[in-house]
Amino acid sequence: MIVLGLESSCDETAVAVYCGEQGLLGHAIHSQIALHDAYGGVVPELASRDHIRKWLPLLDETLSASALTLSDIDAVAYTAGPGLAGALMVGAMAGQSLAFALEVPALAVNHLEGHVLAPLLETPAPAFPYLCLLVSGGHSLIVAVHALGRYEVLGESVDDAVGEAFDKTAKLIGLGYPGGAALAALAEQGDPTAFAFPRPMTYRPGLQMSFSGLKTAALTATRANPECEADIAASFQAAAVDTLVIKVKRALAQTGLRRLVVAGGVGANAHLREALRQLGADCYYPRGVFCTDNAAMIALAGCLRAEAGESDESSPGVRPRWPLDSLDPPAA
Ligand code: KG4
Ligand code: ZN
Repeated sequence: MIVLGLESSCDETAVAVYCGEQGLLGHAIHSQIALHDAYGGVVPELASRDHIRKWLPLLDETLSASALTLSDIDAVAYTAGPGLAGALMVGAMAGQSLAFALEVPALAVNHLEGHVLAPLLETPAPAFPYLCLLVSGGHSLIVAVHALGRYEVLGESVDDAVGEAFDKTAKLIGLGYPGGAALAALAEQGDPTAFAFPRPMTYRPGLQMSFSGLKTAALTATRANPECEADIAASFQAAAVDTLVIKVKRALAQTGLRRLVVAGGVGANAHLREALRQLGADCYYPRGVFCTDNAAMIALAGCLRAEAGESDESSPGVRPRWPLDSLDPPAA
């Protein structure tokens, strides 16, 4: 089965084709970072309009790169949530119209399910069950992935996502948007012990996380010591990484899981990777391009569900809020 995937939940427009037998056949992504840069964050209306402009050229690019035509497509999977309502609607309308015209099923895919299944795009792929740390600009989740559609959210951030805290700290130091990677680069020149930033919610049991207090601590330190940017960056990164690692260590012990998948843009952080490696679990990192928002993971999730017999009859439309643990295994 060949499934076309569409992703438009935030500031990336992406198209991919995934084949159940042969794996990923092609994918293309357009990032809107430059479009939103001047505003210091994603402007929803601009995001929606740009998705409208970009999805058809990306579709053409993906089909020609994979030597396919629309008549080869057996189903269309689109991101139905969670995400920005207007941005999601562009992908949903595109996906549903295309599926209607081609007379194939349209499958509404949960974006977070895409992220936690993204490691299955790689070889070797982790076998179920595994623990997934999903850390991006929008999400910080620790999930036990038991099987397709069986996700147990063990912990998540009660406020800012960890990537958002990286970005806001980077912005106040003047590193642009999204500045997580630039902040990590600056941290290399600083002393991670210079400032004793909090490791939020690690002193009590449980797997919930919080990153807004850490961001505020960095803000206060920057105001008092504007010349210490590299030390603040290094101390912030150390606190964020420590917090994530403490929680993941707890989650591995609590679940007894031995495989750990790290997904989301913050998974690119070298210090986080090194610290997680030392926990002794088998670590899996999807390639950078499949860690951040992409359509390959949406096409893959749609394909697995379609092959398990799911049809489009229960299609929910767009769902800006759509918790991962509200999903069910495929309904045949
Ligand atoms: O998965 P992704 O594209 O998320 C969203 O679009 O939400 O990841 C982007 C996030 C941004 O917050 C970015 O600053 C952060 O990942 N990021 C990093 C690094 N590279 C990207 N954070 C820390 N260290 C990095 N090396
Ligand atoms: Zn995402």
